[in-house]
Amino acid sequence: MNESKKTSLTGIKPTHLPHIGNYLGAIRPALQMAGEYRTIYFIADYHALTSVHDAEKMRTYVHDVAASWLACGLDPNETILFRQSDVPQVFELAWIFACLFHVGQLERSHAYKDALAKGAKPNAGLFNYPLLMAADIVLYDTDVVPVGKDQKQHIEITRDLAARLNHHFGEGTVVVPEERITEAPLVPGTDGQKMSKSLGNHIPLFDPPKKLRKGVMGIKTGSEGLDDPKDPDGSTVYQLYELVASKEQADEMADKLRKGGYGWGHAKEDLHQALEAEIGPHREKFEQLRNEPEVLDDILDSGAVKARVIAERTMRRVRSAIGIEPLRRTEKTTVKIK
Ligand code: ADP
Ligand code: TRP
Repeated sequence: MNESKKTSLTGIKPTHLPHIGNYLGAIRPALQMAGEYRTIYFIADYHALTSVHDAEKMRTYVHDVAASWLACGLDPNETILFRQSDVPQVFELAWIFACLFHVGQLERSHAYKDALAKGAKPNAGLFNYPLLMAADIVLYDTDVVPVGKDQKQHIEITRDLAARLNHHFGEGTVVVPEERITEAPLVPGTDGQKMSKSLGNHIPLFDPPKKLRKGVMGIKTGSEGLDDPKDPDGSTVYQLYELVASKEQADEMADKLRKGGYGWGHAKEDLHQALEAEIGPHREKFEQLRNEPEVLDDILDSGAVKARVIAERTMRRVRSAIGIEPLRRTEKTTVKIK
């Protein structure tokens, strides 16, 4: 691990089996950053607990997400990959942040306001979500957080909290992260809206080839006949193809669609082939990892050992800055407990 590189960190919520939208919009772009930064990726299981209230599902999704990232090329020797819950210091820092923030600011958080607007009764975990996320980031001396636009407000809150802590308790106590909004593509689902598990328009990333083909064949298209010219722009099949095919292949498909004599069925066959070429090589690795949960746990455990070293180093600085240093007193005492 190269100490001179800047640290880039991101959290992945284990709320479902990853789909093609997650792969093209988050996994692939994040892995492309890996060489340039010292990268830290974690499975945000305690964030997922705001919505996943089923132990079996939680266990399954944590392994699904870890296996997906590893199968797509995450190298655990180069990137620290761990479970958020394996580093309890994160709750300590989240509490400290809670004591520096006003309730009104949390009430203005988009995620919380959206939940209220939908008529949901948000739990206190969702209300406090930005504090835990800020702790996730600051705990590891993070310089950059590559996230999509939807997370912009969370990063602003994090920067505000880190700066407040430094202002109150001493400049340089924690690193204030930079905002880095990634321009990932918005991947359409089978109905043309944003691909999302909750909309039921998703194609799971590691469906077996026949099921993947069925998913692709289910994409909505116009009703033009085989010979009719078709407009590639605004077509879901073409939008997806552009994301997985080369520029030349995509231009060729656009030409064929415009000319006519090339049906939506043909375009879907080409899309299926291009998807298979992109995803197929990772599928076998995913299945292998998914069948060996103990290997996944070993990888996550050794990531957590490294993450805890960084976390404890940060917390010693923070505890000392705020005047709370519990470990110094208890460590030297031998206590007998009956
Ligand atoms: P959420 O919906 O709570 O953001 P998801 O599990 O759907 O969580 O998303 C995980 C990651 O995948 C996020 O970085 C998100 O931006 C990205 N992502 C999800 N769906 C799409 C999509 N259709 N297009 C592009 N990126 C997506
Ligand atoms: N809130 C992020 C999401 O919904 C997940 C997340 C949790 C995260 N902690 C983080 C992302 C820290 C970046 C950094 O996708």
